[in-house]
Amino acid sequence: LPDEAQIRADIGRLRRERNAVILAHNYQRPEVQGIADFVGDSLGLSRQAARTDAEVIVFAGVHFMAETAAILNPQKTVLLPDLRAGCSLADTVTAQGIRDWKALNPGGLVVTYVNTTADVKAESDYCCTSGNAVQIVQSLPQDVPVLFAPDRFLAAHVIRETGREMDVWDGACHVHEAIRPEDVQGQQAAYPDAELLIHPECGCSSRILSAIPELQLYSTEGMIHRAQASDAQEFIVVTETGMVTRLQNDVPGKTFIPVSRTACCEYMKMITLTNILDSLQNLQPRVTVPKDIRARALVPIERMLAVG
Ligand code: 13P
Ligand code: SF4
Repeated sequence: LPDEAQIRADIGRLRRERNAVILAHNYQRPEVQGIADFVGDSLGLSRQAARTDAEVIVFAGVHFMAETAAILNPQKTVLLPDLRAGCSLADTVTAQGIRDWKALNPGGLVVTYVNTTADVKAESDYCCTSGNAVQIVQSLPQDVPVLFAPDRFLAAHVIRETGREMDVWDGACHVHEAIRPEDVQGQQAAYPDAELLIHPECGCSSRILSAIPELQLYSTEGMIHRAQASDAQEFIVVTETGMVTRLQNDVPGKTFIPVSRTACCEYMKMITLTNILDSLQNLQPRVTVPKDIRARALVPIERMLAVG
């Protein structure tokens, strides 16, 4: 067998022996998406992590996602095949930062994007993902201030959709922030019939929306549903490039054009077939969350899973 086929066969064998499930985010490499038991967005992956009866969860994603799985499954082994797979957005906020912010805004409800560390979640009232941020904020009582962290572009989208004022943390994802309106316009000129699929983390979203106010923004899973439902045959995919793989796999017969080849998350791409196989063999590297942090972080995660 050629090397890659052998690795895939070994992963298949070990997955059965270990009673393991492999969960992969939509931004993972094509070959990693190809061997996963479930491929999805942050919300879908959290839901899968909450319901799996496997003993081992191999997380093909980034550190905060594996931490969320560990918080939901303290009795299970959660593996992240490369511990360096972090997130620039999660790095923009610390637990102390949230504590200081709350002290300045007594009585405020803290809503944090799931792209945060377990310590930050432990200081939060609600978590959300791009797939349910609007519904989470809509579900909050009207008479309390909302502190929304850390993504300022997702926050702008939530404010537009809900009409609600919020105090917003000044964070962003380096991949989505770097996508410029000119990148979108260049691809629109090259593919005039293509529909835009834009993720709310994108820095370009506010300027594009001011030109096309009726435009919807989509979480990565939302893009799948939209591409299936739309009459359009071509789509410009305005998010991380891995999403094109997922769309091509799940919506065959339609054409998906990445907004920019450089919109690539190096953290997501750290997970490979080779380190997935190593992690299944060695049951390392593991992601664990200290008990006290886990108990506090579970509350906003469970509230998130209960809404939307
Ligand atoms: P979703 O898959 O939840 O839309 O999130 C995008 C993202 O940047 C995850 O890191
Ligand atoms: Fe974090 Fe951005 Fe990478 Fe998602 S794409 S993991 S938000 S750095």
